[in-house]
Amino acid sequence: MEVEQDGSYDATARIVDPGGDAEERRVEAALRPKRLADFPGQPRVRDQLGLLLEAARRRQRPPDHVLLSGPPGLGKTSLAMIIAAELEQPIRITSGPAIQHAGDLAAILSSLAEGEVLFLDEIHRMARPAEEMLYLAMEDFRVDVVVGKGPGATAIPLELPPFTVVGATTRSGLLPAPLRDRFGFTGHLDFYSADDLAQILTRNSTLLGIDSTQQGITEIAGRSRGTPRIANRLLRRVRDYAQVHGTGVLDRDSARAALALFDVDESGLDRLDRAVLEALCRRFGGGPVGLSTLAVAVGEEPDTVETVAEPYLVREGYLVRTPRGRAASAQAWEHLGLAAPQTAVPGAIPLPLDDESGRFGG
Ligand SMILES: Nc1ncnc2c1ncn2[C@@H]1O[C@H](COP(=O)(O)OP(=O)(O)O)[C@@H](O)[C@H]1O
Ligand SMILES: [Mg+2]
Repeated sequence: MEVEQDGSYDATARIVDPGGDAEERRVEAALRPKRLADFPGQPRVRDQLGLLLEAARRRQRPPDHVLLSGPPGLGKTSLAMIIAAELEQPIRITSGPAIQHAGDLAAILSSLAEGEVLFLDEIHRMARPAEEMLYLAMEDFRVDVVVGKGPGATAIPLELPPFTVVGATTRSGLLPAPLRDRFGFTGHLDFYSADDLAQILTRNSTLLGIDSTQQGITEIAGRSRGTPRIANRLLRRVRDYAQVHGTGVLDRDSARAALALFDVDESGLDRLDRAVLEALCRRFGGGPVGLSTLAVAVGEEPDTVETVAEPYLVREGYLVRTPRGRAASAQAWEHLGLAAPQTAVPGAIPLPLDDESGRFGG
């Protein structure tokens, strides 16, 4: 990790690159499942979405707006595209950070065709005035276009054809309640089982023309943090390793060696995960410690620690969220080969990420 011997740290040394590189985005697009039936895992969300889409199809009306929430890399963007494909409708893709003014959103909304799917990625990062415009548009299919400035300004209501918003967020808790309530269905994506990941990896290794063994695939699947995006990335790195150092066949030995080279440990924790646990145990005596202090210690943004590392660490019982901050469980100490203090809570019982799983609201 980036903490130096003297305890200082290099805040510019980022462990994760949330955007990924261009090659990664290209391969991701190629590997995305195209229809709901090809989408392994997330059985609950898949069934719920399937019902919503089928009912809409029968009524020949756009379905309710859909919110997809969950940690990065679990398939939110893929599902948004699948929704449009299943509805046989075009999809317009934009994201919260790209909408800084209500006018940006008004321009998009007023150009939507009937039935079109509007995908709003990172919807929790949209500007406030745009948010207000969005929830009126979602409810009444209407926007008020403001003409002129100052006291003479007038709002001209503009009718919109019915459309479907698909919002994606890693932080559903940050969405204001009025906006959240406009979504008729919220699908919460959870981490994938190793079996589901193995199924995804087997399919993708065929698509990429990789010669692989079942054991090689199982090794990667068990160490991908329950995340298809990570599984796909490790698949390509293990393939590289097998081609350069091995026989070209992706087997268990090449998988183990490559995963060690790329800092993925036996439990599937990566560098950031371990940096968080190391900082928590070695520097803060196991905590509790506030999120921002912890983030500074590992040289990452608090948001990255909270949305990228934490959900999996909590889910696997290494980290506990308490009212006074983050604390290491006995399991975390053990994982680092350290003696846990008496006060450390035992490994937590895995819980769903939040209680909104498959919630029907609105
Ligand atoms: N259920 C799934 N089956 C197969 N591949 C998946 C699945 N979910 C995600 N992926 C793959 O993982 C990568 C990241 O998925 P994406 O939809 O972009 O995640 P998110 O938008 O939640 O960050 C994509 O390459 C996609 O092909
Ligand atoms: Mg996405």
